[in-house]
Amino acid sequence: MKTIRIVDILKKSENYLQSEVNVKGWVRTKRGNSAVNFIALNDGSIVHSLQIVADVAAFDPELLKKVTTGACLSVTGTLVSSMGKGQTVEIQAKYIEVLGTADPEKYPLQKKGHSMEFLREIAHLRFRTNYFGCVMRLRHAMAFAIHQYFNDRGFVYLHTPLITGSDTEGAGEMFQVTTLDMENLPRTPEGKVDYSKDFFGKLTSLTVSGQLNGELGAMALGKIYTFGPTFRAENSNTPRHLAEFWMIEPEMAFYEIEDNMDLAEDFIRYLVNYALEHNADDLQFLNDMFDKTLLERLQSVDKEAFARLSYTEAIDILLKSGHNFEVPVEWGMDLQSEHERFLVEQHCRKPVILTDYPEAIKAFYMKQNDDGKTVRGMDILFPKIGEIIGGSEREADLDKLLRVIRSRHMKEDVLDWYLDTRRFGTAPHSGFGLGFERLLLFVTGMANIRDVIPFPRTPQNADF
Ligand code: 4AD
Ligand code: MG
Repeated sequence: MKTIRIVDILKKSENYLQSEVNVKGWVRTKRGNSAVNFIALNDGSIVHSLQIVADVAAFDPELLKKVTTGACLSVTGTLVSSMGKGQTVEIQAKYIEVLGTADPEKYPLQKKGHSMEFLREIAHLRFRTNYFGCVMRLRHAMAFAIHQYFNDRGFVYLHTPLITGSDTEGAGEMFQVTTLDMENLPRTPEGKVDYSKDFFGKLTSLTVSGQLNGELGAMALGKIYTFGPTFRAENSNTPRHLAEFWMIEPEMAFYEIEDNMDLAEDFIRYLVNYALEHNADDLQFLNDMFDKTLLERLQSVDKEAFARLSYTEAIDILLKSGHNFEVPVEWGMDLQSEHERFLVEQHCRKPVILTDYPEAIKAFYMKQNDDGKTVRGMDILFPKIGEIIGGSEREADLDKLLRVIRSRHMKEDVLDWYLDTRRFGTAPHSGFGLGFERLLLFVTGMANIRDVIPFPRTPQNADF
């Protein structure tokens, strides 16, 4: 008999009522009495479990004993309307097969609520909880919607390399990739490590961003996007940083900074609306159980435009606020999260796009403004999360770009291939990077970035 997914049974029950169906899934709870057992079965297709009703007299007591929380069952029976509270249909079981038992003494997910911290310690099992079921279905939906969005708008999905010889952001937070024997390193006559003996014949690392390669694609294909893992060895143990995270990076020829902002805003709005439309059950569950203002926050994204401020205007607002910040505000500083939160949550009370940052605090590739001090960068800041997008119009002028590269003592030869975009047929172009897990923090209402990725990698932690 064909197995029916529980989502189909619950959403299209009229198709199955009074007929015999087979379902497979994991036991969430079992309760009942000496006459009848009620089993909540979940197969991951939807947050809700399906109620299985088993008449104790009709089953081998040894079999029912094995039906414990966490066990995997195949159940065949008739779908009937339920008289009980909390569900409209249930299965009157005829056959139950225990596919896999779960020893109640050992299975860590018994029915009581668990803290997020505890669930992180058993991250390999936490998909079996309603929270993580919701989060993972939303993560999937957002990944799918991202491809849909760009495909519908003529962007080409470009696969950029994960192993690279260049540091896009210039922050020096890269994980080195090597096959050299750490215990016995080859040396140059000067005593330095001889990377010519390494696998790629030079120093290589895991990428922090696909942007530089993406720019090459955009300057030929017009509009591209990347969507892949990126790696940062920044030692920040915060609820918003991962060492391995996924980033979406569109890059567009002929886009100036305003076009870039418009695209970013439209993109986020599309994704949030997609989640509201396609994952209503998951969002309702998270709203009810975790964050009572989640749905309201998500709905508000569609209602009004994001605020747009220059960095200089933002500094002005912070200075005039009279607010006592831990880190004092001055022009030229990198805004701290307390400053970003003030702007977003107290001053603007909606997402904010900040532009035109001081050159010194931004990456080398950003277009230089005529004032000689600021660059055409943009960050999008969200309530509770802070920065979710970082991007810019790119400096299209070779000489101006070289000036910055040299003043920062960057290795010019390593970037030679990148500079060809400016040597041959250069043009205005722009792009941005959306942190996938930061987006998911917003969409799910989760408070910690470790809880929106299946297997988080953070400093001192690469378990599972
Ligand atoms: O602002 P970032 O560093 O920008 C870039 O990498 C550009 N090359 C993007 C581009 O213009 N194509 O990173 C982009 C976004 C951030 O806004 C943030 O959402 C996310 O990536 N991000 C992180 N997410 C989780 N953990 C970390 N350690 C992150 N670092 C950045
Ligand atoms: Mg940034």
